[in-house]
Amino acid sequence: MMTVEQATYSRLENLDIRELPFGQVFTDHMYVCTYKDGQWDAGKIQPYGNLSLSPGMQGLHYGQSIFEGMKAYRNSSDEVVLFRPIENQLRLNKSAQRMCMPDLPEHLFMDGLKKLLEMDSEWVPSYEGFSLYIRPFMFASGVGVQARPSEEYTFMIICSPVSAYYSKPVKLLIEETYSRAAYGGTGTAKAGGNYGGSFYPARLAAEKGYDQLMWTDSIEHKYIEEAGTMNIFFRIGDELVTPALSGTILEGITRDSVIKLARHIGIPVVERKISVDELMEAYDNNTLTEAFGVGTAATVSVISHIGRGDKQIILDENQEFALRIKENMDNIRVGKQSDDLNWIMKVC
Ligand code: COI
Repeated sequence: MMTVEQATYSRLENLDIRELPFGQVFTDHMYVCTYKDGQWDAGKIQPYGNLSLSPGMQGLHYGQSIFEGMKAYRNSSDEVVLFRPIENQLRLNKSAQRMCMPDLPEHLFMDGLKKLLEMDSEWVPSYEGFSLYIRPFMFASGVGVQARPSEEYTFMIICSPVSAYYSKPVKLLIEETYSRAAYGGTGTAKAGGNYGGSFYPARLAAEKGYDQLMWTDSIEHKYIEEAGTMNIFFRIGDELVTPALSGTILEGITRDSVIKLARHIGIPVVERKISVDELMEAYDNNTLTEAFGVGTAATVSVISHIGRGDKQIILDENQEFALRIKENMDNIRVGKQSDDLNWIMKVC
């Protein structure tokens, strides 16, 4: 049975949640589950705090480390709800398989998550635009520097109250030199290293005034993939277009939800290859009118600038489809609109 150790006091009392930077202050408790001798223990909730780790811990050396991003919301009836949590549990296990890590049973993920949210429910903000960001993650916690899969793993969940990841419209630079992921690589897994490898090219883009990169395929740098912290949608004519899943793009749960929700409210969506040239031409002939990124952290973030080399295209920040989708999604999450697609799970 899961064990629970309660924190002696709550740090929440001395905090104004509205003033916090994204994902740097964590709630009073965390969930820890360990895998040893071929099985997971029953899990433990304990006060949030530092871990004691061996310098020889395998996860530090060979990157067996995966994560998820999800959010809990406080709805208009003052209940704490989750958005499609089982999708995160399933995707964690897909990432685990690719990284040669053990499968985490659904009950260990869901029971730990629910109990943690019950205990830290006061941390789920009620302010508009705020939510509790949930970070489940798993890493190789066995010791040894032989390059082979670990035999011990740790799964944890930590939570942090947040608002928007991008506070204003986003400027993206099309990346035509570096790659985020290659065919046959780990691009679809939510592996920590996929993100670490993107920081250097993203820094180069930041030096040119961009917030993030728009990644292209690793073979020709011709087809658009994603933005690293979010999947991408374009409005071309009266249709939304998003890059088809190719094995190198993260299979975003928000991406999937946006496709389903858009269709549900009558916006046509096509998943297909889309080249940088096609995007540029669509801009030149005025059929490209919207671009936005979607993700758990990023929610729906309007893209205002897209750079390609020295050329830059600038889009109107008032984007009709992006706004409609964001409003519908937000309203479903906080219970202001009926949950027709059955996405909401009440926790407490
Ligand atoms: C999320 O949206 O949860 C992500 O994983 C993006 C994160 C790297 C900020």
